[in-house]
Amino acid sequence: MSTPEHAGQTWGAPPPPPRSPSGVPRASVELSLAPHAAPADEDHTEQVAGDMGPTGRPLRQIADPPLVAGHGPAKILAVCNQKGGVGKTTSTINLGAALTEFGRRVLLVDFDPQGALSVGLGVHPHQLDQTIYNVIMERNVAVDDVIMRTPVEGMDLLPSNIDLSAAEIQLVSEVGREHTLVRTLRPVIEHYDYVLVDCQPSLGLLTVNALAAADGVLIPLECEFFSLRGVALLIDTIEKVRERLNPKLEITGILATMYDPRTLHSREVMARVVEAFGDVVFDTVINRTVRFPETTVAGEPITSWAPRSAGAKAYRALAREVIAR
Ligand SMILES: Nc1ncnc2c1ncn2[C@@H]1O[C@H](COP(=O)(O)OP(=O)(O)OP(=O)(O)O)[C@@H](O)[C@H]1O
Ligand SMILES: [Mg+2]
Repeated sequence: MSTPEHAGQTWGAPPPPPRSPSGVPRASVELSLAPHAAPADEDHTEQVAGDMGPTGRPLRQIADPPLVAGHGPAKILAVCNQKGGVGKTTSTINLGAALTEFGRRVLLVDFDPQGALSVGLGVHPHQLDQTIYNVIMERNVAVDDVIMRTPVEGMDLLPSNIDLSAAEIQLVSEVGREHTLVRTLRPVIEHYDYVLVDCQPSLGLLTVNALAAADGVLIPLECEFFSLRGVALLIDTIEKVRERLNPKLEITGILATMYDPRTLHSREVMARVVEAFGDVVFDTVINRTVRFPETTVAGEPITSWAPRSAGAKAYRALAREVIAR
């Protein structure tokens, strides 16, 4: 069937990528987009306490938390879901930045060899001499020497790059292999109020390290049918880590992401998630918007790039909930 919109498009497999003169498919060349000006959009929709929220529960209005007198010891939150592309990295950056707006000091830990968290903050991970890999594998590298400042005041980054993929294998033969990350973070825990660990999309040894170090787990869940399927396995893993390695581990909350209020599908998935997990589901829901991919290009959080956008407001609301929990 060919409608005018589809004319000229192939409805099956995509065409092979064009080849460069060297014979390398162009698709493998690193994409470089010039960041364009931040949008002037403002979100005028004010959510009022008592209104029905997207979770089907009345919205609770949480007041801005009081400022803290001093900092630390940090609460460690692992941002975790073995499913890829559900908004772990986006939520880590933007929740972290929103927490700093409430006066909290935040350390973001890039615990994914893809280094997307580092990229999202404007760092070129492959150009780094030292990353979290060196801190966890080399006893003479201090965590303080690898932590970097970010453009967000009060938010630091422990970066990673592809080197970290070797750690997963090398750690297997280490003594106390599941507690490597918590040992790594111990010297700086007093300097921060929150440490957010961006996990890779797997339940391997790196993720188990993040869970063994954490006080809580934040689970981003894409509002899409298949995203529900892996959650039982994730919760099973969290329970095993709690029993065997880290009795203090809790599920801080489940965050519905990429919600599209216009589609019945999104609303149905949302209803199922709330039915299955109840109050563990945050009231805050993150809508699907192109603003988030744009912030990755800009290399900064949405809270500074489009401060009045609905996305920025949503991550601020999440920060209030996280502090209140
Ligand atoms: N609410 C949203 N609306 C639209 N796009 C989003 C949203 N959140 C994230 N994205 C985009 O979706 C993609 C995947 O998001 P992200 O990298 O945060 O997921 P992830 O769970 O960390 O992925 P991975 O498992 O590969 O680490 C990115 O391009 C990101 O910009
Ligand atoms: Mg990620």
